[in-house]
Amino acid sequence: MEKTFLMIKPDGVQRNLIGPIVERLENKGFKLAGAKLMHVSESLAKTHYQEHQDKPFFGELVDFITSGPVFAMVLEGENVIDTARLVVGATNPQQAAPGTIRGDFGLTVGKNIIHGSDSPESAEREIGLFFDESEVLDYDLINSSWIY
Ligand code: TYD
Ligand code: MG
Repeated sequence: MEKTFLMIKPDGVQRNLIGPIVERLENKGFKLAGAKLMHVSESLAKTHYQEHQDKPFFGELVDFITSGPVFAMVLEGENVIDTARLVVGATNPQQAAPGTIRGDFGLTVGKNIIHGSDSPESAEREIGLFFDESEVLDYDLINSSWIY
């Protein structure tokens, strides 16, 4: 089953939004395969966001993502990479649709609450950066035939 990487950023953690955000993702039908509260080191932040290293916002992005704990997740489900990005919403929360996480909880692009992998290649790379293999669990939901 497809897996993706999601990360509640320091603003989401500081605003006590871990519960409401995980609730939305679980309610959508995705399964948590891994999750942890952690600090992101400067080197991990720079590697994770390396595609943006030449952008004017890169320094602020690295400073922000390392400023406090994040809640890192591996989510599993059918077409989870693209569908989780829809649940997350557009990059700029001012343009993100109501009903999306960024649309409902965010207001500025620099503090947009949550990260989600944008492709199968990014998902595999980012899961590998943030999680040891032993931290990504393979299990069945006991009631998976009737709880969605
Ligand atoms: P990007 O990969 O374009 O967005 P997404 O998170 O939706 O995949 O950008 C990575 C992060 O960089 C984004 O979540 C917030 C930050 N960012 C800015 O601070 N300013 C900007 O103008 C952009 C485009 C992104
Ligand atoms: Mg991106």
